[in-house]
Amino acid sequence: MASPRIILTGGSKGLGLAIIRILLEKHNARVATLSRSYPDELKSVVEKYGPERVIVVQGDVGKSEDNVKVVKAAVDAFGGLDSLILNAATLDPVGK
Ligand SMILES: NC(=O)c1ccc[n+]([C@@H]2O[C@H](COP(=O)([O-])OP(=O)(O)OC[C@H]3O[C@@H](n4cnc5c(N)ncnc54)[C@H](OP(=O)(O)O)[C@@H]3O)[C@@H](O)[C@H]2O)c1
Repeated sequence: MASPRIILTGGSKGLGLAIIRILLEKHNARVATLSRSYPDELKSVVEKYGPERVIVVQGDVGKSEDNVKVVKAAVDAFGGLDSLILNAATLDPVGK
């Protein structure tokens, strides 16, 4: 796939941010991420690759409206989706 279109939840830090960097650097991916915070480390990734390659939606995976928001942002920007990486809050309950 030339430039896979991916949503990765929880890309603001930790494993999620590391995976985003690898997807952008090594796989020419386009990535949309959903996290509650938007720290400087993630801002610098957006500045480096630009909004054509990486989109940040601030929100909570426990809220369906926030999940809809990131899907809509990714589909609007990338024209579709190829993969979903559900990394955020895998161990703790986040709502219904
Ligand atoms: N590291 C390990 O050894 C290990 C082992 C087993 C499983 N895991 C799982 O692997 C995943 C990543 O681990 P990690 O060590 O990288 O954790 P981390 O450093 O705490 O990062 C978690 C990421 O998920 C986001 N997040 C958490 N709750 C969220 C919510 N309700 N809505 C949206 N975003 C949310 C955080 O962003 P915000 O805080 O900005 O929302 C952050 O970007 C987690 O699901 C963890 O449970 C990790």
